[in-house]
Amino acid sequence: MPEQKRLSLAGIGCGSRTRTYMKLAMEQKNRYRIAAAADPVKQRTEAVRDFAPEEERDSVRLFKDAASLLAEPRLADVAIIGTQDDYHYAPCRKAMELGYHVLLEKPIAKTLKEALELRDTARLLKRRVAVCHVLRYTQFYRTLKKIIDSGEIGEVITFNANEGVGAWHFAHSFVRGHWGNSKTSTPMIVAKCCHDMDILYWLMGRRKCLSVASFGELTFFTKKTLSSPRPERCTEWTTPVGEDPWDARKYATDDECKRWLGMVYD
Ligand SMILES: NC(=O)c1ccc[n+]([C@@H]2O[C@H](COP(=O)([O-])OP(=O)(O)OC[C@H]3O[C@@H](n4cnc5c(N)ncnc54)[C@H](O)[C@@H]3O)[C@@H](O)[C@H]2O)c1
Repeated sequence: MPEQKRLSLAGIGCGSRTRTYMKLAMEQKNRYRIAAAADPVKQRTEAVRDFAPEEERDSVRLFKDAASLLAEPRLADVAIIGTQDDYHYAPCRKAMELGYHVLLEKPIAKTLKEALELRDTARLLKRRVAVCHVLRYTQFYRTLKKIIDSGEIGEVITFNANEGVGAWHFAHSFVRGHWGNSKTSTPMIVAKCCHDMDILYWLMGRRKCLSVASFGELTFFTKKTLSSPRPERCTEWTTPVGEDPWDARKYATDDECKRWLGMVYD
């Protein structure tokens, strides 16, 4: 049998997501090869390079940021774009212009206009842009899809889906973390609910959406709710762990949280 052509990969923004995808790709070294990586944090590009088999590491090109990688002619078949929400559109567009197909982290872009522009560019240039709506690939949702498509439960009229964002995930990501400010990142309806909208659309197989609403408030996370002097950072308490609900040290013993933090921190 002829040897399968390996797809070469360039990682743009080598944080938690890109490293996860690169690591997974290297579980199938006969199908994928790491060609390049870009990130302002050098250790992250080096970590991507080190996923490659030893004999191929020297050929992995490392760049200090997306712009310098994308200033080169195309270095790989596929660009994996795993930068933060506010920096998806520009590298994705440029990568397509250079001839890359793209594995693009969600959300596609910050605005509908930009998302549609990326769609049109992909069509025009005949590039494939796969958006990382990863739920579609889980056993659970694939099974649901199979059941719905088989007609076994008849026509679907209503669908209720709740996503429980863990308390520590909420505080870490959506209060003080990357998505703590919708102006510099994206609001919840885009950052998190894009997965829900995608999965509902995919499961139901209907394109039409009549309206979408999103609401919420900080409630506990304001200066008004501070009843006693608090340390500057939620890891700097001097009181016994667990006495205050905002003491982040308590999560150091939570197994689920530890697993998750291990993924999002270097
Ligand atoms: N599909 C999913 O289920 C899922 C889950 C979590 C996050 N995400 C999305 O994935 C994206 C990345 O999330 P993450 O948790 O990996 O974030 P992260 O902060 O760990 O990674 C982003 C990386 O981009 C780098 N970066 C910043 N500026 C850059 C530049 N100019 N050029 C190149 N790299 C640059 C940062 O140094 C960082 O390493 C986000 O858009 C997020 O919404 C998707």
